[in-house]
Amino acid sequence: MHVCDACHGESPKWQGQCPHCGAWNTLTAQIAPAAGRASATRRASLTPTGGASGLAEAMRATPEGSTRTGVGMGELDRVLGGGLVPGSVTLIGGEPGIGKSTLLLQVAQGIAGSPAVLYATGEESVDQVAMRARRLEGAFGHVQVVAQTDLDTILELTARIKPALLIVDSIQTMALASVPSAAGAVTQLRECTAALVRQAKSSATAVVIVGHVTKDGAIAGPRMLEHLVDTVLYFERDAGSRFRRVRAAKNRFGAAHELGFFLMQDNGLREVKNPAAIFLSRAPQPVIGSLVMVTRDGTRPLLVEVQGLVDASRLGAPRRVAQGIDAGRLAMVLAVLNRHGGIGLQEHDVFANVVGGLDIDEPAWDLPVALALASSLREFALPPDLVVFGELGLTGEVRPVTFGEERIREAAKLGYRRALVPEANVPRQAVEGIEVRGVARIEDAIRKVLG
Ligand code: TYD
Ligand code: MG
Repeated sequence: MHVCDACHGESPKWQGQCPHCGAWNTLTAQIAPAAGRASATRRASLTPTGGASGLAEAMRATPEGSTRTGVGMGELDRVLGGGLVPGSVTLIGGEPGIGKSTLLLQVAQGIAGSPAVLYATGEESVDQVAMRARRLEGAFGHVQVVAQTDLDTILELTARIKPALLIVDSIQTMALASVPSAAGAVTQLRECTAALVRQAKSSATAVVIVGHVTKDGAIAGPRMLEHLVDTVLYFERDAGSRFRRVRAAKNRFGAAHELGFFLMQDNGLREVKNPAAIFLSRAPQPVIGSLVMVTRDGTRPLLVEVQGLVDASRLGAPRRVAQGIDAGRLAMVLAVLNRHGGIGLQEHDVFANVVGGLDIDEPAWDLPVALALASSLREFALPPDLVVFGELGLTGEVRPVTFGEERIREAAKLGYRRALVPEANVPRQAVEGIEVRGVARIEDAIRKVLG
């Protein structure tokens, strides 16, 4: 069988171009797993008895909320949807050196009530794991370590110890003897993950799998494994920053897009419970082209500074650079500003930026970015105690966003005294400590903020 390096699509014979994704010269030969064995594993049942169960009975047996295991870090528990679910499989991806092993050793340590944890590493020796554990300081009495790359051995150990949590660090180093390709190869990655999923589903052991993501952003392993597991987390950072964030890309047991923030210290990762510090580097005096908005990541509001800069263009085609927001939508915001707001930027280079390296993929940034750009053009400084959010429509209307009141409350809690929001998002009852003004149209908003 031939597998594409780009999309991992399979083709029976070699071709110059991948029939699945159209990439050229990406097919490499792989040996398919023996047919008999593959079908045998496919037939395996995910319930211990192999029979059918009454759903109502099963619902009574596992009441909501009773089944989660807290990992001792509130930020991570929230991203997971309230802790680890027994029998679930979580994949955590991230570039080498970002701190995945550190995070998971802390998870092993923090598991509530100290049931057994098995930490299987194919990357380090037991001594090296012990060295890291020493840095983390704390009790590891309930943690067993095995340095092993043979997954069959790890699965046997798991069946014997029956740990509450099995950590596999990393999937790229693991191999099943029954699969002829080398560790890290496409078929090996997939078969190993499938074996771990079967193990988890037929027991109460939660499994967390580490997957390395290559530096250039092409996700060699994890992307292809996403559909096999219950939850996919990505561990990310901005270049040079000690801050880390864990993002839920998929979560069968919680909200996707949820973010958790951490700081890497000498003795491990520390939770950052108030991430405002990362995204709000604003000076306390009025600033031209800078504005604080309230966005949402998963289930909580997050205050983020957005910046706009416009500059007379010296080239024929003015530049439009968007960092952290969608460039196509920025073009739409510029058109709305021009046609309805009286702010023409056709002869200007336009730069828009979200501070702190966050990507905002909800339209609530439309209005704040529009106002930041208008502020830059008019050289009019915006007040530092103001927050703005709102979506713009093509006719110049300011449209409401979800969870308006919650956003306003969060801003008030963090000390902001004024909010400019879509009219339909103005709370019926005043929110203490913050003056909320509603706007229905872009020209209205520009008049209220820039005079
Ligand atoms: P690690 O968990 O080994 O990363 P990964 O498993 O994702 O490859 O962490 C690697 C980095 O973290 C390494 O450069 C050392 C640093 N580190 C700290 O700064 N403080 C600590 O307490 C620990 C354990 C590691
Ligand atoms: Mg590691």
